[in-house]
Amino acid sequence: MLVLGIESSCDETAASIVKDGREIISNIVYSQAEEHGLYGGVVPEIASRRHIDAVSEVVQKCFDEANCTVNDIDAIACTFAPGLIGALLVGVNFAKGLSFASGKPIVPTHHIRGHIAALYLTHKDLKPPFICLVASGGHSHIVAVEDYTKFRIIGRTIDDAAGEAFDKVSRTLGLGYPGGPAVSKAALSGDKTKYKLPTPHTENKYDVSFSGLKTAVINIFNINNMKGEETDINSLAASFEEKISQILSDNLVNAAEEFGFDTLAIAGGVAANRRLRQLIEEKAKGKRFVCPDISLCGDNGAMIAAQGYYEYLDGNIGDVNLNGMANLNIDYR
Ligand code: KG4
Ligand code: ZN
Repeated sequence: MLVLGIESSCDETAASIVKDGREIISNIVYSQAEEHGLYGGVVPEIASRRHIDAVSEVVQKCFDEANCTVNDIDAIACTFAPGLIGALLVGVNFAKGLSFASGKPIVPTHHIRGHIAALYLTHKDLKPPFICLVASGGHSHIVAVEDYTKFRIIGRTIDDAAGEAFDKVSRTLGLGYPGGPAVSKAALSGDKTKYKLPTPHTENKYDVSFSGLKTAVINIFNINNMKGEETDINSLAASFEEKISQILSDNLVNAAEEFGFDTLAIAGGVAANRRLRQLIEEKAKGKRFVCPDISLCGDNGAMIAAQGYYEYLDGNIGDVNLNGMANLNIDYR
């Protein structure tokens, strides 16, 4: 079965055709990051406009690369939630139009579920149940993936998402957008033990909080500035990356132990972080640890097509009334 996946929830306009939820036939990602970088982060209004500009061409390229047309596919999956509402509506409406014109069913697909499905494209044998840390620009969750379309939230951030913290720290340190790769690059030549940063505590031990950690980094930088002292940017970046990676890896490994999972996974933009991967690898001894290919950690259409395949099998079919939603829990259905 061939599924077309369309993604437009943030600053990537993306389309992909995936076979049986596992094999990428074509995959086109148009990133707007450079333009948003001028403003230090995603500007929602600009994102919506760029999706409008790009979506037709991206989908057409996706068909061209797969050497097929809409007549050859079996379903159209699109990200309908969560995300920037104006951005989501572009993909949803494009998908509805294509579905109406072609008679192919439309499959509303949850963005965070999609991030998890990127794992199925990389590890062809991977099947639920497993436990997954999903960390992106908008979300940080520890989720029990009980089945392809059945999820249980074990922990979540009570304030900033992990990627958001990377982005804000990066902006303060003048490292650019997106923050994750920029902070990681700077950290490579820094001393991760140089700056002592706080470990935040939360009521539910699997929840996380990154707002205080982010503020601690920003305060070090600003106080040094006020005193006319220089900050060792690379070491501050390294200390921050180390702290956030230690917190996320501990959480995932401890939750896997407590809830009895022998397969651990990570997904979402932050899953591209090498230090985070390394720490989980070290701490999860004796258990299987899987990550998506680095190229599939950020937003893409393939992850939506892969999850869309399983949503379709579960009977999750939309109609002309399908709308976008800015917020929606992963266990909504
Ligand atoms: O999943 P994603 O592409 O978009 C959302 O759904 O939000 O995640 C983007 C986030 C950004 O905050 C970006 O800074 C972060 O993922 N990110 C990283 C890395 N690469 C991207 N964070 C840490 N380390 C990385 N290597
Ligand atoms: Zn995402």
